[in-house]
Amino acid sequence: MQATARAQPNIALIKYWGKRDRTLNLPAVGSISITLAELFTEMNVQFDSGLNDDVLTVNGEIDRQMLPRISRCLSAVAGEGRDTALVDSHCNFPVAAGLASSASAFAALVVAASAAAGQQRSTAELASLAGQASGSAARSLYGGFAELENDGDSVAVETLLDAGDWPLSIVIAVTSSGPKPLSSGEAMEISRKTSPFYGRWIDDQMHDLDVARLAIRERDFDKLAAIAEHNCLKMHSVMWASRPPIVYWNAATLDCLQTVRELRGQGVGVFFTVDAGPQVKAICMAHDVSRVCDALQSTNGVRRVIVSGLGVGAQLTDCA
Ligand code: DP6
Repeated sequence: MQATARAQPNIALIKYWGKRDRTLNLPAVGSISITLAELFTEMNVQFDSGLNDDVLTVNGEIDRQMLPRISRCLSAVAGEGRDTALVDSHCNFPVAAGLASSASAFAALVVAASAAAGQQRSTAELASLAGQASGSAARSLYGGFAELENDGDSVAVETLLDAGDWPLSIVIAVTSSGPKPLSSGEAMEISRKTSPFYGRWIDDQMHDLDVARLAIRERDFDKLAAIAEHNCLKMHSVMWASRPPIVYWNAATLDCLQTVRELRGQGVGVFFTVDAGPQVKAICMAHDVSRVCDALQSTNGVRRVIVSGLGVGAQLTDCA
């Protein structure tokens, strides 16, 4: 059997950084994200016992580097005794550059693999399987504003608002299209072991989640902007103070943050967030999107901007 699924990346407004259990890949903190609409990964999974080993292609090219993680995820979904699989992935945005490509990839993979294996799993089960492969992927099973709660032996994700309930826009300023130097998983471990700010980061997260959850429920843009920027800068402070230091930013990243602050000074409703990469994500009110686009596009070092609205969670698109 074969199946295809499509999933969108998500951008964390309150970030996941650090693992509580590396074997189960359980995050050390909860997180809140928005799922995008226009960026996507489409994954086709075909279980085919004729193959000796699993085969992964990404945008038409064989990918051996990502294959072990894909194979482990397939076994978690379909069982260790499963047939070998042909996995064909297509992505309409740069992979491994801090645009959350692993989130959309593993969310699409679990949905497609489960259907191709003839299973009927709930969204919660699929989210838990995706989260074992990549913590942030659990959130891409859900659309709009999603909160990942970090309790007990597994993760649970809840929708705070649907995409249409507060239709914000996201402008991504791409400042580099190369792969990132260090995966988020490796970087988190360095932070956990060496950053003097790591403990404080964990202790403060519940407060940031409470403030952001309320701001989202009340659709209070300024309150959400303030806590999201604070949480983002705190996560990067944890990274910068790690040994060796983890610095994903480049000069253009800083210039973009300045652009966002200047726009806000001019009365534009916009705030920034940055993940494990040099790209800047500006979240704004839908009516301000062209102003934010123009300002970021003309910021030094910005290669291009990508605009997206908020979208739905991962979906099965074909199964035969
Ligand atoms: C900075 O989900 O990529 O984007 O679980 O090791 O695969 P693994 O990590 P990953 O980390 C995401 C980190 C982040 C913040 C976030 O998305 O919450």
